[in-house]
Amino acid sequence: MALIDVCPVEELPPGHVKIVFAGTLAIGVYNLGGELFGLEDRCSHDDGPLCEGDFDPDDGIAICPRHGANIDIRSGRALTLPAVDAVATYGVRVEDGMVKVDIG
Ligand code: FES
Repeated sequence: MALIDVCPVEELPPGHVKIVFAGTLAIGVYNLGGELFGLEDRCSHDDGPLCEGDFDPDDGIAICPRHGANIDIRSGRALTLPAVDAVATYGVRVEDGMVKVDIG
């Protein structure tokens, strides 16, 4: 387990996303109705900046800004073409008021 700091919990309210970096890895950390999820900021279709696109916080769907694939934020599953493969997901927790993502 390797935890990296994302931000203080009050800076990531429901309906928002923060992108954090660990070396070459970028992860979008989403707050969906008070639950936190980590999704790799790299689309499985053609490496698009997935977490920099729009997302639907109610349905938990990220929309790739490059070609429009819909990705389930909670599971990483590809829901629509042109993405087929799942996107990596990461565990998120709050410790001492700080949001942290586990990059393994
Ligand atoms: S890179 Fe995301 S849909 Fe093509």
